[in-house]
Amino acid sequence: MTRHWIWVTLAPGIVFLTSPAFAEGDPAAGQARAVVCAACHGIDGNSINPEWPSLAGQGASYMVTQLKRFQSGERENVLMSPQASTLSEQEILDVSAYYAAQTPKIGIAQADQKTLNLGELIYRGGILERGIPSCIACHGPGGTGNEPAQFPRLAGQHAAYVILQLKSFREGFEAHKIHTRQNPMMNEVAAKLTDREIEAVAHYISGLY
Ligand code: HEC
Ligand code: HEC
Repeated sequence: MTRHWIWVTLAPGIVFLTSPAFAEGDPAAGQARAVVCAACHGIDGNSINPEWPSLAGQGASYMVTQLKRFQSGERENVLMSPQASTLSEQEILDVSAYYAAQTPKIGIAQADQKTLNLGELIYRGGILERGIPSCIACHGPGGTGNEPAQFPRLAGQHAAYVILQLKSFREGFEAHKIHTRQNPMMNEVAAKLTDREIEAVAHYISGLY
């Protein structure tokens, strides 16, 4: 009788101890699943094509959200959407845990000093008179993001990819077109930026580490 009672009391505790690790994703399983992702995102999450994002060191919870958006069609991309559609719920957690644990390469900005100065100005201070907030406020002084808030890491990201995303956010706000990215915070930030300002801040970001 007594033994039976102890087992019943302990059993839920065992389930409780093992499930949180499972829910966070298994980086080793993620590494195996990410073999197909490496063609575009690089074996260690540092991509070579400037239009394909690097994922190394990116926030896991941010990546989980994005992969689910590709699956639901809320975010669309002709190359990425079919890739996301093949992932199970657990595989999404695993690949995100794997990429989050990889080391990002040190960013090197490829732009003239005038462009980088304008980019730094926007990134660090925003443009007050036009109501553009500083990027620092959410993405951090070094561009490392904020994992719990799902503000993505930007440091060292390819400028070409950042430019594409900022324009997607901007068009999403102006025209509510499909195939654009919808996020109330970023739609508002990007709506007020000119092409020149987008390019400048993107190049500045690509040199952050
Ligand atoms: C054929 C190339 C290709 C392959 C293979 C690929 N991706 Fe992507 N991925 C992309 C592109 C391009 C984007 C950017 C899409 C956009 O502009 O919205 C992207 C975006 C992403 C993002 C969002 C990044 C961000 O910063 O918002 C994640 C996460 C991601 N991919 C994970 C994966 C995973 C996991 C796999 C493997 C199952 C994979 N990708 C396979 C091309 C690819
Ligand atoms: C109020 C908070 C906030 C501010 C201020 C902000 N961002 Fe963001 N940013 C976000 C959030 C949240 C996301 C993720 C959006 C999503 O889930 O699609 C994001 C996403 C992005 C992305 C896409 C990253 C990727 O990997 O695809 C870029 C690029 C970006 N922000 C650049 C900027 C720049 C440049 C500025 C300053 C001009 C800025 N952000 C200011 C909150 C903010």
